[in-house]
Amino acid sequence: MLIVAALLLQATVILPPGEEPVEPYTQSDVNAGAKPFRDDTLWKAFHESAGVSRIVDDLVTRNQNDPRISDIFRNQDTVRLRRTLKEQFCYILGGGCTYTGRDMKTAHKNMGVQRADMAALVENLQAAMRAERIPFGAQNRLLAKLAPMHRDVVQR
Ligand code: HEM
Repeated sequence: MLIVAALLLQATVILPPGEEPVEPYTQSDVNAGAKPFRDDTLWKAFHESAGVSRIVDDLVTRNQNDPRISDIFRNQDTVRLRRTLKEQFCYILGGGCTYTGRDMKTAHKNMGVQRADMAALVENLQAAMRAERIPFGAQNRLLAKLAPMHRDVVQR
C-alpha cells in the first residue's frame, strides 16, 4: 500500500527534463484559449511538427533578445514555455496535439504585460513565420486565433 502511494506521489511530481514545477492546475485543451481548425490544412501549411518547433524556438529566442520585452522573459522557465507553446500551436493549427499547459490568464498573471509588449511579440512571431516561409494567408489565420487572447494576457 505504502509502495503504491509512493509511486503515485512520484508520478504526480515527475517533470519533463529541464522544467521547473508550477502551481497545480486542471489540464484541458480549453486552456489553449482558442478552438482548433477542423482539418490539418494549416498544420501542413506550417510544415507540421518540425516547422512549428522551429517557429516557436525562433520566437522565444527573438523575445529573449528583443530589448522591448526581454526583461519579461528573464528568469522564466523557457524550457516549459517552448514545450507548451509548441503544443498550443499544434492544437490550434489542427495538428491533433493535446495542450497540457495553463490557461492564458493564469500563465501571464502578475507579469505586467502591456499592449505594446503584445504587439512586439506578434511582430516577432511574424518574423519567425516569415523565416519559415509560411504563406501570408496561413500566418494571418493563426494570428486571428491568438489576437483575442490579449484580453487574458495584457494587464491594465
Ligand atoms: C497571444 C499571445 C500569447 C500566447 C498565445 C502565449 C502563450 C503562452 C504559453 C502557452 C505559456 C506557457 C503556459 C504554461 O506554462 O503553462 C506562456 C507563458 C509565458 N508567456 Fe505568453 N503568450 C502570449 C503572449 C505573451 C506576451 C505578450 C508576453 C510578454 C511580452 C508573454 C510572456 C510569457 C512568459 C514570460 C511566459 C513564461 C511564464 C512562466 O515561466 O511562468 N506571453 N505564454
